[in-house]
Amino acid sequence: MLKDKVAVVTGASRGIGRSIAEHLAREGATVIINYNGSADRAREVETGIRENGGKAEAIQCNVADFSACEAFIADVIKKYGRIDILVNNAGITRDNLMMKMKEEEFDAVISTNLKGAFNCMKFASRQMLKQRSGKIINISSVSGVMGNAGQANYSASKAGIIGLTKSAARELASRHITVNAIAPGFIRTEMTEVLSDSVKAAATAQIPMGTFGEPEDVAQMTVFLASDKADYITGQVICVDGGMAM
Ligand code: NAI
Repeated sequence: MLKDKVAVVTGASRGIGRSIAEHLAREGATVIINYNGSADRAREVETGIRENGGKAEAIQCNVADFSACEAFIADVIKKYGRIDILVNNAGITRDNLMMKMKEEEFDAVISTNLKGAFNCMKFASRQMLKQRSGKIINISSVSGVMGNAGQANYSASKAGIIGLTKSAARELASRHITVNAIAPGFIRTEMTEVLSDSVKAAATAQIPMGTFGEPEDVAQMTVFLASDKADYITGQVICVDGGMAM
């Protein structure tokens, strides 16, 4: 379904990003596995994809760094000639009640989650405009849709992603570039593994389907939005959340 497509997935050394990279590769895309600190795990993902007959390369870049992103995207274009799919998945949490939240906790989350997505979109969309085609998929969160106590920084970054998605969708639509967001609910990854049992139980109680989702649930929606089956869908926020945000 994605043969000859070049895809960049940020934060793809583990969790949802890893699953997205593997699913895109399975559909035939050449996948750039972006990582920041986890070189070994990114190489593991790269090797796994290659062993399954797919094409992948792990490339380091801190998405929060504007000029590093410019160099990263330029490097991908130099090596592969194009970028068809960009998935902005890299994200962090620094949870705290707003009253206790430190300036660094707010800034770190906004820099990685929101500015990181902007940085990659800015440079990748320049190439997509030349190609007159492209698919950008931004990973938001139900926290950005509904808000969440203890996550003022994270919710703001994820709500920001939604505004960024809609504005970019309007700017790029006439050139056949679509920009959509996925808002996952609670997904079983290392990010949610660290939550206490009581927080997990309270979260589960809010999910109509009564259980956390899997990284694959988000990956399947990403593959669909990256494919030509989704050519007429842009500026949307698709919740993959077991009904949590309805
Ligand atoms: P994770 O913590 O397992 O993976 C995040 C990845 O992003 C890691 O590989 C990390 O190294 C990478 N990363 C962090 N900062 C980076 C930077 N500056 N540059 C490049 N890469 C960086 O988390 P998970 O659960 O896989 O989350 C993936 C995305 O999905 C995040 O944006 C997260 O906010 C979002 N999400 C996750 C949910 C969940 O329940 N797990 C729910 C809703 C959204």
